[in-house]
Amino acid sequence: MLLKPLPALTILLLGSVTFAQQKPLSAIDKKVEALLAKMTLDEKIGQLNQYSADGLATGPLTENGNKFQQIKEGKVGAMLNVRGAKDTRMVQGYAMQSRLKIPLLFGLDVIHGYRTTFPIPLAEAASWDMRAIQSSARVSATEAAAGGIHWTFAPMVDIARDPRWGRVMEGAGEDPYLGSMIAAARVHGFQGNGLGNLDAVMACVKHFAAYGAAIGGRDYNTVDISDRTLWETYLPPFKAAADAGAATFMNSFNELNGIPASGNRYLQTDILKGKWHFKGFIVSDWGSISEMVAHGFAKDGKQAGEEAINAGNDMDMEGHSYINNLAQLVKEKKVPMSRVDDAVRRILRKKFEMGLFDDPYRFSNEDRESKVLNLAPNHEIARDVARKSIVLLKNDNELLPLSKNLKNIALIGPLAKADKDMMGFWSVMWENDHLVSLYEGLQNKLGNNTNLLYSQGCDVTDTSKRGFAEAIAAAKQAEVVIMAVGEHFDMSGEAKSRANIHIPGIQEDLVKAIVETGKPVVVLTMSGRPMIFNYTADHANAILQTWWLGSEAGNAIADVLFGDYNPSGKLPMSFPRSEGQIPVYYNYKSTGRPSQNDLGINYRSGYNDLPNSPRYAFGYGLSYTTFAFSDLKLSKNKFSKNESTTVTCTIKNTGPYAGEEVVQLYLRQLVGTVTRPVKELKGFEKISLKPGESKTVSFVIGKEQLSFYNQQMQWGTEPGEFRLMIGNSSDHILLQDKFELVN
Ligand code: GLC
Repeated sequence: MLLKPLPALTILLLGSVTFAQQKPLSAIDKKVEALLAKMTLDEKIGQLNQYSADGLATGPLTENGNKFQQIKEGKVGAMLNVRGAKDTRMVQGYAMQSRLKIPLLFGLDVIHGYRTTFPIPLAEAASWDMRAIQSSARVSATEAAAGGIHWTFAPMVDIARDPRWGRVMEGAGEDPYLGSMIAAARVHGFQGNGLGNLDAVMACVKHFAAYGAAIGGRDYNTVDISDRTLWETYLPPFKAAADAGAATFMNSFNELNGIPASGNRYLQTDILKGKWHFKGFIVSDWGSISEMVAHGFAKDGKQAGEEAINAGNDMDMEGHSYINNLAQLVKEKKVPMSRVDDAVRRILRKKFEMGLFDDPYRFSNEDRESKVLNLAPNHEIARDVARKSIVLLKNDNELLPLSKNLKNIALIGPLAKADKDMMGFWSVMWENDHLVSLYEGLQNKLGNNTNLLYSQGCDVTDTSKRGFAEAIAAAKQAEVVIMAVGEHFDMSGEAKSRANIHIPGIQEDLVKAIVETGKPVVVLTMSGRPMIFNYTADHANAILQTWWLGSEAGNAIADVLFGDYNPSGKLPMSFPRSEGQIPVYYNYKSTGRPSQNDLGINYRSGYNDLPNSPRYAFGYGLSYTTFAFSDLKLSKNKFSKNESTTVTCTIKNTGPYAGEEVVQLYLRQLVGTVTRPVKELKGFEKISLKPGESKTVSFVIGKEQLSFYNQQMQWGTEPGEFRLMIGNSSDHILLQDKFELVN
């Protein structure tokens, strides 16, 4: 995955270069050109205009006033938040009344499931299982396509190092390499065997770019980062998604180094459409074009439209900027017709590829919808992905897995019976949705064998301890206590930034009260983000991070609690000890005064009141079994930049349970013309081993793994010594070696 920045000069040339040798037009391109030639300026602008249905259409859509009238007049190219075969067919029918009968695209935020809800993306990232992640997107696409949806606004690939930002739940965490692998897996899952298939939807890679670097973790806030950080940390997953063939991109609300993404030519034209040769189209985020007025980047909606279209944004989502201003801007020659035509071509090409001109209603088939949306196997896939997303953070004295023969289990906490919360933010909500709560999952698992003593104890956010006494009494009657604490599903997500990311309310006081009964306590932390829970981390006997796991949450958690699945998840994002540490991430720089003992005393870089290290590190996660790492070998310890070395090591299951381990490969270039992180993930493999079984894992290290941006921002390698580290967490390195790259 090569990412090379564009030196300024190239950027200038790109704009003026005309490609004398145009490739012969494809069959679709010929149709696009033929249609384009018939279109009036207003009809062209209509294709660049996207509206949302008012509210999520959970019931039959009624005549939507002006928007539907505009569709009939050919002034709308796409809708979002219209869903279901029936409603999409009805609204598509309005487009068929327009002069040229150009079909609408129907987009929806199918972020982690359409009818079957999957774990939130950050949870799935914890599985480190690309096949599972791809299958999740595949099912989501199949169901959405059956529901009349052509286009999902996913995958969200924003790297996030700040858990105060509520949208961390929607991405793949802090690492560019893991994030890139997941981005590609999700694009392949959504687009399946290619656009035009009735189970494929267009992916939309978002939010381009660096939205996750918002200062202070405050959603929509300013992003001001170096070019090197942009290219090295935030762009790789976008490039991986583009290379995977993503059909569309969505830009972002934030400004990047002074220029809002929606009006950012460097991002949209020079990098995405220029350097990366992206042939799809870019949609703005909701109203992000007109928001450039609030940014202070445009004096009014008209200038905002001019900036956006000229910077490379193709479609205006609910900004009403293009539809109200583009015709005038073209007449005033502030926007060249060639740019409008380019945007229209990109959108029409996707409509042809989706087969919508052959049959505008092909995805709006109620018979197929009823068959596809409720398939039992989809729930099995959801349960499998959910199990794999659970991270075992602590298991003192192998308390877990629990025996199914326990007579009395106390189930305590405000999320023990929560079902709606299991869906997480950005789920497609249904009135008759069924989400398996932890309580129901335990009932399903244990039947009448075990007495489940339930007590809520407290609410998620309230401060009343009036429920503690009952909870303590329940605990005292039990052999084991299972507690479910954390956030409500809508405490992480868009516009859900929090300055305090401790477990909310007095839930940790409840944990303390239950721990003090002396009973063995298993705590399930449920959230869309890394939370802070130092008391629980120090005093609970066992802890599982269960995120929001979707439709099959309770069943998946019960599978893990009782050993029907050995947890294999690894954290895709660091869990801080305190908000004061943020941002805290694993691939940090050494500094000139690295903190040896993890405390910043004696003029070392650190805090005097807290270790530098997070509470739980990137890549961390335990298992019910144990694994031994051995026999590290390199085929070469010295090689040139055009060669590679093959790294092998042996992993053995040395414990009593079958299980999976994520073998993680980290590298560090010890000296460079720019400083390099103390470690960077450059490879991983998730392997399954039976008790006593061994496997050899191998990685190839070459130019791609060793390249970085030098002082001139040129991508390439530099000779020098490297430290190679292999472990089962970024802070648990088990094998090390060195090698030298020579000129
Ligand atoms: C929202 C989000 C974006 C989403 C879009 C449509 O504001 O930022 O991720 O796809 O609007 O719902």
